[in-house]
Amino acid sequence: PACPLIAPSLLKCDFGNLESEIARLEDANARTLHWDVMDGHFVPNLSYGAMVIERLRERTELLFDAHLMITDPARWVDDYLRAGCDWVTIHIEACPDPLPVFRKIRDAGKMAGIALNPETPVKSLQACVGECDLVLVMSVHPGFGGQKFIASSTDKIKEVRELFGSDTLISVDGGIGPKTISQVSAAGAEVFVAGSSIFDQPCYESAIREMEELAAG
Ligand code: DX5
Ligand code: ZN
Repeated sequence: PACPLIAPSLLKCDFGNLESEIARLEDANARTLHWDVMDGHFVPNLSYGAMVIERLRERTELLFDAHLMITDPARWVDDYLRAGCDWVTIHIEACPDPLPVFRKIRDAGKMAGIALNPETPVKSLQACVGECDLVLVMSVHPGFGGQKFIASSTDKIKEVRELFGSDTLISVDGGIGPKTISQVSAAGAEVFVAGSSIFDQPCYESAIREMEELAAG
């Protein structure tokens, strides 16, 4: 894509200094934050919820991209809209009928996303075509940062592009870094969620810039 969007994932960040981490990301020219919400039920890890996101909403203008790795997202989506999330992505595995949730998110003027895990076939998103704004292709099994990129994700991105056409944003999430970003970009991804490839680096700005350049091709 002409202007690839790197989305730093808040899971591998220093949670003891969340506000200053976000300030560091702003100084590193990040344009968005990927909030990895985990409920300890849909995934075997617990991170944070709408209450935390709402407090940080008051401290930054960055675009909030919420990735809800939670059971029964329909029950909680209002909380994330109220917290000020701009994009709200739910998992197809946790919400067999996502259309009403997409409508609620879009009625709030925000962007609705659907995420699918590595083992979930693309055809399971058939009913979502034309009903959501973003597809999040998981290239690791959700729950933790720092995992290895699953190679079959690249072809899966191509399949998503074929099914959804060019009007739907494709985001890829998990194990994305300088060694993997070029192939997923060439396959059609436009948003690149990055955790370890940013937070494990000494300089966030050069990590982000390097990946933007690689993704732009
Ligand atoms: C995993 C999360 C990802 C993860 C990315 O469940 O959805 O956003 O934190 O971290 P890395 O980039 O280190 O794989
Ligand atoms: Zn994520």
